[in-house]
Amino acid sequence: MQVKKLPIMAKTDLVRNISYLDALGIQAWVRRDVSSERSAAPETEPAAPVLEQTPAVVTKPSLMPWEQLQTQIASCAQCELAAGRTQSVFGIGDAQADLMIIGEAPGRDEDMKGEPFVGRAGLLLNAMLHAIGLEREQIFIANVLKCRPPQNRDPSLAEIEACSNYLKAQIEHIQPKMLLVVGRIAAHFLLETNVAVGKLRLQVHHYQGIPLIVTYHPAYLLRRPSEKRKSWDDLKLALATMQAQT
Ligand code: URA
Repeated sequence: MQVKKLPIMAKTDLVRNISYLDALGIQAWVRRDVSSERSAAPETEPAAPVLEQTPAVVTKPSLMPWEQLQTQIASCAQCELAAGRTQSVFGIGDAQADLMIIGEAPGRDEDMKGEPFVGRAGLLLNAMLHAIGLEREQIFIANVLKCRPPQNRDPSLAEIEACSNYLKAQIEHIQPKMLLVVGRIAAHFLLETNVAVGKLRLQVHHYQGIPLIVTYHPAYLLRRPSEKRKSWDDLKLALATMQAQT
C-alpha cells in the first residue's frame, strides 16, 4: 500500500497554529506560577463505569474489501442499536491515511449525518487537528461503535463486542502510522486496560505494532476547558512520533 506522507510542520507553522489554539481557549504556554488553577483540575475524565474486562474478540477481523466492509456496516444488525439508528456511521477520511483518530460512538448529530465527529465535539476536534497542521480530509476518523447508543449512554460490553471486528478491520486495512485514541471507551478497548485516560496519556502505546497515543475526548474537553492544554501536549507527541517514523 502506498503511504501518503503528512506534511512535516515547520516550527514557524507550529507557532502560527498556536493562534488556532488561542481561538479555542487553549493556552499553549503558561507560566508555571499562574497555573495553580489548572493543576488543581482532576487528572482524569470523570469516573464512570469502566469496562470490567477487555471485551473478547469474537473472531479475528478479516480483511474484506473496503467497499464490502462499508456495505456490511451499513446493513449491520448484530446488536440492538441497529433498531434505533438513523444510519450507521462508517467513518470518514483518507483510507490510506497516516493518522487514524478513534472515538467512542456516534452521537445525535453523527447519527443524523452519517459522519463521525460533526457535532460540537467534532468542531473542537477539527480545531485541534488544525492546530497541528492537519485537516479532516488527511486523516481517517472512526469510532469503536458504528451506531448511536440511545441518549448517548456508554456502549455496553455486548455492543462493543458486536462491533469490534469492524474497527479492527478498518485499522488492518488502513495500516496507519499512528492511532490517536480519544477518550476512555476507545482507549480501554484498544489497549485492553481499565487504566484512567489521565494515566494513559503522554505515553506511546502500541496496538498491533502501531504507535497509539491516548488523549481526552473532545466532549470531555468541552466540559473541562482547563484540560485542553494537556490534549495539546498529547497532539504534539502524536505528531512528533509520527514524524519520527518518516
Ligand atoms: N463522540 C464520539 O466519540 N464520536 C463521534 O463520532 C461523536 C462524538
